[in-house]
Amino acid sequence: MSKEVWKAGTLVYPVPAVMVSCGNYPEEKNIITVAWTGTVNTNPPMAYISLRPERFSYDIIKRTGEFVINLTTKKLVKACDFCGVKSGRDTDKFAALELTAQKASKISAPIIYESPVNIECRVKQIIPLGSHHMFLAEVVAVDVSAEYMDKTGKFHFNKTNPVCYSHGEYFALGEKLGSFGYSIRKKKPDALQNKNSSTTMKKPRKKNKK
Ligand SMILES: Cc1cc2nc3c(=O)[nH]c(=O)nc-3n(C[C@H](O)[C@H](O)[C@H](O)COP(=O)(O)O)c2cc1C
Repeated sequence: MSKEVWKAGTLVYPVPAVMVSCGNYPEEKNIITVAWTGTVNTNPPMAYISLRPERFSYDIIKRTGEFVINLTTKKLVKACDFCGVKSGRDTDKFAALELTAQKASKISAPIIYESPVNIECRVKQIIPLGSHHMFLAEVVAVDVSAEYMDKTGKFHFNKTNPVCYSHGEYFALGEKLGSFGYSIRKKKPDALQNKNSSTTMKKPRKKNKK
């Protein structure tokens, strides 16, 4: 198998495409779609978004020091694309998409109520990298839609129909292939395995840590 060597570029895919809401709500609100985002630390929980300085949202987030990462679902994917091709300079994206801005619990930027997971972030550092500036932020609260919680308090994230973005296209999640640590987990007898199968993310059991 031969390889072609390309010039350096960004080809880490798939990635999330999230709707980042910002502004000093209720006076001000906007949404920008962001693919350059992710988790960078567990404790304290920290995330990042990278923005081009020319984005309308850039100045808002720089000034307020706050934003919300709203996760995108199959239902929201068209809205997500819209927020990535229209600017808040000339469009009220909440109004155009009939999305609900709601007061966040800890910050002044609004959450998008229709998104099942809203990650409230407070900016710690802005790192100019080149085309994009990275906003490193601490997660100060997470709002989740109660409809995806079960009686035991478990959040069934994958039932929200999350979407991802891969090389210019949006995709829903496909077939489940495994779960955290399954490569080293001892196989259970078939009958038991089917009985215990679930769509939720579970931590591997300690007894597998040998
Ligand atoms: C799927 C997708 C991903 C995007 N990711 C980013 C990104 O990571 N950073 C960025 O600055 N712009 C990104 N954009 C472009 C902005 O969302 C777009 O320029 C938007 O209109 C800016 O909105 P604003 O001017 O209201 O801030 C992306 C657009 C799409 C469609």
